[in-house]
Amino acid sequence: MTKVKKSFAGQHQAQSYPQNRTSHKLALDRNENPLQPSKRVQEAIIQELNNLSRYPENSGFALRNALSKIWNLNPDFFLIGNGSFEILSLLALVFLDQDSEVIVPEGSFIWHKRFSQFNGAKVINVPLNPNLQINLAQIIKSITTQAKIIWLTNPFNPTSTILEKQDLLNFCRKVPSDVIIAIDEAYIEFASLNSQASSKQFVIDFPNVILLRTFSKFYRLASLRVGYAVAQPELIQTILPYRIPPNHNRLGAVAAIESLQDEISQKETFSYIRNEKQYLSGELEALNFKVIDSETNFLFVSIENHSPDFIAKLAEQVVFKEGRFFGFPNYFRVTIGTTEQNRELIRLIKSIINY
Ligand SMILES: Cc1ncc(COP(=O)(O)O)c(C=O)c1O
Repeated sequence: MTKVKKSFAGQHQAQSYPQNRTSHKLALDRNENPLQPSKRVQEAIIQELNNLSRYPENSGFALRNALSKIWNLNPDFFLIGNGSFEILSLLALVFLDQDSEVIVPEGSFIWHKRFSQFNGAKVINVPLNPNLQINLAQIIKSITTQAKIIWLTNPFNPTSTILEKQDLLNFCRKVPSDVIIAIDEAYIEFASLNSQASSKQFVIDFPNVILLRTFSKFYRLASLRVGYAVAQPELIQTILPYRIPPNHNRLGAVAAIESLQDEISQKETFSYIRNEKQYLSGELEALNFKVIDSETNFLFVSIENHSPDFIAKLAEQVVFKEGRFFGFPNYFRVTIGTTEQNRELIRLIKSIINY
């Protein structure tokens, strides 16, 4: 068989089709929103069905305009992607080669590393602080002349912690301007400290910062595959030619625009997740689990007060992410589900620990 290109060598072997888990009653592993798209968004999608024989508008013009109004930035600051996955992949494709290094906090979202490695880059892992936050000072120390991208996720996946805005601004000031700082904000809308408006300053102040946002989580549209990047137009234009056009579809575009305007659903998601998060953390803490304060729609939970085989037993009945997958064997990550799912989860956990 023809050999894969050099930078792929060894990367593909562990990859096979993942198991089908979407129909599982307690699939709480992918940090999806437990709420359905609102009627308002569904109606916009239904209207758009009439146009499916036509290609989408190639540059995402209408969606970039809608984003432009919300962020109060020129539409040229935005790049629409087939989920934020596509934009992560494009960043790696455009900026990395065999001579590059990328820096990631320990346990980071696997695709930041994988896309980097696919393009030949060496991945430098930087351990987290003892409180499971990204260690910005240590990242600064790890920057070499080969460093090309620093991948941050804020709030952090998997630990659900968030960086203080001021710390992040100070960090950006210290990073050399030829190193891209990619801040993946997939979960930021769930956070209590931050808002979209506060992120904007990063792209205004720093031409090397690119923010990544998605409609998959807070906006309930994971299936429609819409994500976007925000950065200064020069950086956006450097990436733009490498996408596969058109890289998003009509249903996704109208649904994203409608859900940006659907403030009732946004408030509903925010309070539903906050209330269910309180319920789950409270119950888990009462059962002697240690729960990291979460700024996202998932919890990172320590089993240090329980039997080491707890995680394996839970995995027999629930789909979630085992901490060993991220390098934290004493933890597990679980998505906040529906009210019913969360109660069922607690019932199962109680039965495992004989409570
Ligand atoms: C940190 C992070 N970034 C990006 C993504 C992918 O998002 P999208 O659905 O927009 O491709 C995920 C999905 O789980 C994620 O956790």
